[in-house]
Amino acid sequence: MTFSFFSRKSNSVASYGKPISSIRVDVHAHILPGLDNGAPLLDNSIRMAQVLVDAGITRVVATPHIMKGYYENSLPRIQQAKAELVEELKRRKITLVVDLAAEYYVGEELLHQVNEGEPLLTFGVRGKKPYLLMETGILEEPKELEALIQGLVKRNIVPLLAHPERYVYLQNNFERAIELFRMGVLFQVDWQSFHGREDRHIQKFVERMVDYRMVSFVGTNLRNEDQMPQLIDAASQPYFRLMTEIGLLNNELR
Ligand SMILES: [Fe+2]
Repeated sequence: MTFSFFSRKSNSVASYGKPISSIRVDVHAHILPGLDNGAPLLDNSIRMAQVLVDAGITRVVATPHIMKGYYENSLPRIQQAKAELVEELKRRKITLVVDLAAEYYVGEELLHQVNEGEPLLTFGVRGKKPYLLMETGILEEPKELEALIQGLVKRNIVPLLAHPERYVYLQNNFERAIELFRMGVLFQVDWQSFHGREDRHIQKFVERMVDYRMVSFVGTNLRNEDQMPQLIDAASQPYFRLMTEIGLLNNELR
């Protein structure tokens, strides 16, 4: 099969001239094939990898969903998908390092795993505390959230909340985001949230988080290979640039 990204020069570094931002590490991407609502097949994963490389990314943390009843991804299954992707990237000479983690859904299952000391898919820099990427439902704060934060902190794992800007319970209560931050939660905002074309509330929320210096990581949350225009658009926004100038932890993972 011929891949179209080689002909889509308008979306690539080759025509854009340089990476679209200073960010070299993506910490949130649904790039592994066949595991969740991201890449369905390995071909899609490869096209997504090329999008990331074109955007200037050299390392990606693959974060498939783990959610009871929806995405029951076991560790061996995730590891197998990663191995397939790494092998194919190598075969195609695409230079992108792939680390393995997950995007855990906050609920009873995760709380149980944390409290029982079960192995978890975290990421980070050797010698430093690892991060666990987690998401919640959109509307209400889950009842397990505080206990989960405490359990992770006790295990020396940093709770990293994915896309806080999407949660209505935080959009309506910024103070709660500050409280979570004080409890030890770090925040990963989505790259595309800065362009604001879909939801102005979301854009406003991430801008406020930047104002309060509460953003630790940005992630593409990539789900398909058609998102380059949004990545370019978002990266050109003033608040995106401000966020990268203030200092993110992404590039520590290089
Ligand atoms: Fe995600």
